[in-house]
Amino acid sequence: MRLRNVKNKKEILESCPYVIMNPISYFGKWQDVFQNENPIYIEIGMGKGKFLVENAISNPNINFIGIEKYDSVLARGIPKIPEGISNLKIIRMDALEIDQVFSHEISRIYLNFSDPWPKVRHHSRRLSSTIFLKKYDCIFKDCCEIYMRTDNQDFYIYSLESFTKYGYFLDEISFDLHACFDFSSPTTEYEDKFSAQGMPIYFVIAKKKSVQNSKDEENNLPFTKSLV
Ligand SMILES: C[S@@+](CC[C@H](N)C(=O)[O-])C[C@H]1O[C@@H](n2cnc3c(N)ncnc32)[C@H](O)[C@@H]1O
Repeated sequence: MRLRNVKNKKEILESCPYVIMNPISYFGKWQDVFQNENPIYIEIGMGKGKFLVENAISNPNINFIGIEKYDSVLARGIPKIPEGISNLKIIRMDALEIDQVFSHEISRIYLNFSDPWPKVRHHSRRLSSTIFLKKYDCIFKDCCEIYMRTDNQDFYIYSLESFTKYGYFLDEISFDLHACFDFSSPTTEYEDKFSAQGMPIYFVIAKKKSVQNSKDEENNLPFTKSLV
């Protein structure tokens, strides 16, 4: 992706009430940030934030956090966000640091049109690679849910394999999301661009038990065995 520099990007981010400047200090305390117990969904690689903002407005009982690596990208999207959305926060960071920011607090991750990193030597940078799935284990709460959309077939197939090898089951898949008769979700900037060109949008919902839930079950195992 070509990044256009925004001169006053630092000031735009610092003056935006949605942007959390020191996210590590809220580790384990994100429900306090929102002052409610509603589930927290995050979008990694939010870009300019269309999908995130539309979802936050139409789902007031869910807290949304957008994560974006580049402040220039955020600085171009932030001025367009309406004021007063109480269930929306934004963090500028690399997703590689995600396990230092959240501790078993997240109920869903959206990966929308993540960078496909086509070269094999770069596959570990893909947000659906094992390196990231291990990090997501540290942030998911009761159940792990990853919702992914992409235009890139190779990256999609790689992700389906990566999810299943890591213990996720594929709850829903579509090779042409917009052709689904009941499709009615907000779309992303990239999604609008690709679908306007007639390209199919690949979609998957991958789910598994959270590490915490699995530990609870392991702890119960000796008791269960002694009954047999
Ligand atoms: C292709 S764009 C898609 C933007 C948006 N989700 C959409 O669909 O319109 C991918 C975005 O992910 C961001 N990104 C890539 N790697 C990231 C990482 N490791 N951590 C956070 N953001 C990342 C990029 O800066 C870019 O804004």
